[in-house]
Amino acid sequence: MKKFLSLGKQPIANAFITPDEGQDEFFYNLKVGFDKETKLVSHMDFVDPPLMFNDSYVYHTSSSKTMIKHFEETAKMIQERFGPNRILEIGSNDGTFLRHFGIAHGMGIEPCENFAESTRQMGFMIYSEFWSNKLSVEIVGRHGRFYTIYSANCICHIPNIKETLEAVYFALDENGIFIFEDPSLLEMLERNSYDQIYDEHAHIFSITALNNLLKEAGMEIFSIDKTQVHGGSNRVYAQKEGGPHPHDGTLELELEQESLAGLNEVKTYTAFAKRVRNSKTKLLELLHDIKDGGNKIVSYGATSKSTSVFNYCGIGTDLIDYIVDTTPDKQGKLSPGVHIPVVSPEEGFDDSVDYAFLGAWNYLDEITKKESEFLRRGGQFITHVPEVRVLRGEPICQP
Ligand code: TYD
Repeated sequence: MKKFLSLGKQPIANAFITPDEGQDEFFYNLKVGFDKETKLVSHMDFVDPPLMFNDSYVYHTSSSKTMIKHFEETAKMIQERFGPNRILEIGSNDGTFLRHFGIAHGMGIEPCENFAESTRQMGFMIYSEFWSNKLSVEIVGRHGRFYTIYSANCICHIPNIKETLEAVYFALDENGIFIFEDPSLLEMLERNSYDQIYDEHAHIFSITALNNLLKEAGMEIFSIDKTQVHGGSNRVYAQKEGGPHPHDGTLELELEQESLAGLNEVKTYTAFAKRVRNSKTKLLELLHDIKDGGNKIVSYGATSKSTSVFNYCGIGTDLIDYIVDTTPDKQGKLSPGVHIPVVSPEEGFDDSVDYAFLGAWNYLDEITKKESEFLRRGGQFITHVPEVRVLRGEPICQP
């Protein structure tokens, strides 16, 4: 594994704390590497999953209209295209996807007990454990194999990718399909969105790496969709080697694009690391200039991504007064590491705000629609994606 980037000392990105919890906060050194053999980009040292995914996990899939719509459309597409009679979701969070399948047809794996319990109350069978070979064997023993296994923004969270895929293979019917989506490495490199890298994202997947890893696990990719969610993601459709679904050519297309973009070469990653360091310098300069001009800056969306940016750049309450976020579990708390207070938009997104850093830049369209009044009265958004800039005037386009 070749190290190419260091994002410094980072806390658990979603562990928003109360003021008295600051003393015991956990930090680790975030270093990212490239595996020359599999082409996988991963953390050099993984954070232990129970430190991140536990009873107080705060990320709700249903916290944005964009994601609610995305999962409704995805569920409908899967039903129409594959008509599965039973579906297993790995990482079912608050049931935003599973709810579109009847309780007799959907089953979830969700280690965060708070979400597992609320989804059980919707009537679904949920195993609140981490996905592993042991769990796969237990589930197959009780329920048989599944025709469809689905997972969104979860497979990239699991450090042991080899075991993860082996466990999927075991739980999958001979003619079954494994559909999963995660942020795309190519999109991250093109958008300079280094904030996709934080504790939960143990790996940032390229199709090239997934193709290698799935093959090793006895599976093959037969189709890929590109989606705009989470800053640009890949939805991969895989089956057991020699399975019944015809290949539609998208795999070859993506492999070629990634190869042209240099995803197989170390120098692409060292160049990216250089752009990340420049982005930090520019963002600090911009924020200092704006602040020195007597302006009030807040941050919009208390995201894991903004935890990564603020801790890497050393941005605290000297530059950002507070963060506004709609998630009740984050409000009244301090952001991880740099301890910026989080308040509700009703409380904090008022006429006193001059600039808002887009912590949730991936929801730019949804946010600019919602905050048209802020823009009309001269309020401005700041982003670092794809480059550090102030977004002026209309129309503002999603990066
Ligand atoms: P997301 O970008 O999905 O996060 P992460 O980097 O943690 O994966 O998180 C979106 C966060 O932004 C979530 O806490 C809800 C918040 N949010 C708002 O406060 N207002 C909004 O209009 C939107 C779209 C999101």
